[in-house]
Amino acid sequence: MAAYCGRACRQYLLHLAHDNVDFRLPVQTEIKALLSLRNRPFDTSETFSEKSPFWQLNGLSEDDIRSVMSRTVCGKSSFELWGHGTTTDELRKSLLEYPAENMAPYLQQHSTYKINVYTFNKTLVFKDRIKKIDALDFLPFKGTVNLKDPEHIFCLLEDYGSDPNDIPEDPFHIYFGRWIADGQRELIRSYSVKKRHFIGNTSMDAGLSFIMANHAKVKADDLVYDPFVGTGSLLVACSHFGAYVCGTDIDYNTIHGIGKASRKNQKWRGPDENIRANLRQYGTDRLYVDVMVSDASKPLWRKTAQFDAIVTDPPYGIRESTRRTGSHKDIIKPPEDFSSGESHVPVSMAYHLSDIFADLLNFAARHLVLGGRLVYWLPIYRPEYCEEMVPLHPCLTLISNCEQTLSSHTSRRLITMEKTKEPEDSDRLSHLADPRFTPYQGHNSFREKYFSGVTKKNGKDAKATPRNKE
Ligand SMILES: C[S@@+](CC[C@H](N)C(=O)[O-])C[C@H]1O[C@@H](n2cnc3c(N)ncnc32)[C@H](O)[C@@H]1O
Repeated sequence: MAAYCGRACRQYLLHLAHDNVDFRLPVQTEIKALLSLRNRPFDTSETFSEKSPFWQLNGLSEDDIRSVMSRTVCGKSSFELWGHGTTTDELRKSLLEYPAENMAPYLQQHSTYKINVYTFNKTLVFKDRIKKIDALDFLPFKGTVNLKDPEHIFCLLEDYGSDPNDIPEDPFHIYFGRWIADGQRELIRSYSVKKRHFIGNTSMDAGLSFIMANHAKVKADDLVYDPFVGTGSLLVACSHFGAYVCGTDIDYNTIHGIGKASRKNQKWRGPDENIRANLRQYGTDRLYVDVMVSDASKPLWRKTAQFDAIVTDPPYGIRESTRRTGSHKDIIKPPEDFSSGESHVPVSMAYHLSDIFADLLNFAARHLVLGGRLVYWLPIYRPEYCEEMVPLHPCLTLISNCEQTLSSHTSRRLITMEKTKEPEDSDRLSHLADPRFTPYQGHNSFREKYFSGVTKKNGKDAKATPRNKE
């Protein structure tokens, strides 16, 4: 158990959201990214456990914690940790060792307070909660209890492990601390795509969009670009943090907010169903730069264009096609009939996943500012995945790689990279036979593999995890 050493090195406890248990790792990247926005380099690996919803943080200040909580969607609540142990005796000993001068300001005679009891993986009846609070009577609380509007909130947090089929009698860990701030879980509800003005089949859910914006360290006055912008969900999240946003997409109808609607009971998109209107819905339309129809394989930007972050969800070919514009000699299918409501692309040809990612990394290497981040999703066929498959680039350092399972045999990985070097000609990834890139080429048939796995399992997997579930 860590010894307490006064004001200079207080410990803090984060209570993490548990709704994405198989997707815990982004928490570390998120918290690290938010601390580095405050120039607080932080080694998060020491006390982090993928299984636990609690995470002790050392070497930070209360201001650091408040700043993290003002943005995190992975963190639920934060506490100044006054004591912890694996038994009630250990907790008591630890609390008695906590410096009295650190506690005193919050236990004053004229103050009001309340104590909450939170149990993870076990439900306690009211009577048992009260018993646990009463057992804390050795702490020198001098104020008055006020359950409705207390000045100070304390919390006893008990961890009964993560197996709902094997809940122990006593908790594995017990913590006691002073509540500091809650995270931004509320954004998941208030920005839900269900209530969004303009949505499509692949609109990214709100929680993941905010996690991506945090991984990208998006901040006020940044310029953020999404080259596969779709309905602009990622721009919505980035503009919430004050960034100017722009995007491109090959789909004319999506960019212009016309054509077939994605909502049930609505055939055609209504007037003003577009990305700008989405930002207006959340009061950030002053940060809307523009969106344009453009093919990511042939970027329209001048060489000198620079972005602070690129945050994107490229197509995987499951719910949307992976295609790029071709020249007449590449024609593989006739131009589509625009009047039918289908997307209008004069000539289109297949855009292999490995080419999409090679283009994306080359683009990021050229157009990100130094220190700028690229955050994107990489689809993976799990039986064939190995870490070497994650596309690398000499100018981009891999920061994190977290898996989100889609079905038993497919997943997508949230990749975060940071630009650490300006590109030279030799740094450019070539699409074919580049030894730095070839391992991912096996995934070009991701679509076939995705559907073959679904067929094998009689369609069960297709329902397992909808791609952009909220
Ligand atoms: C997964 S969706 C992006 C969804 C978006 N994040 C949202 O929240 O709506 C991928 C997008 O890439 C677009 N796309 C496909 N091929 C493209 C290309 N060659 N260049 C640019 N966009 C492309 C599709 O039209 C689609 O809108």
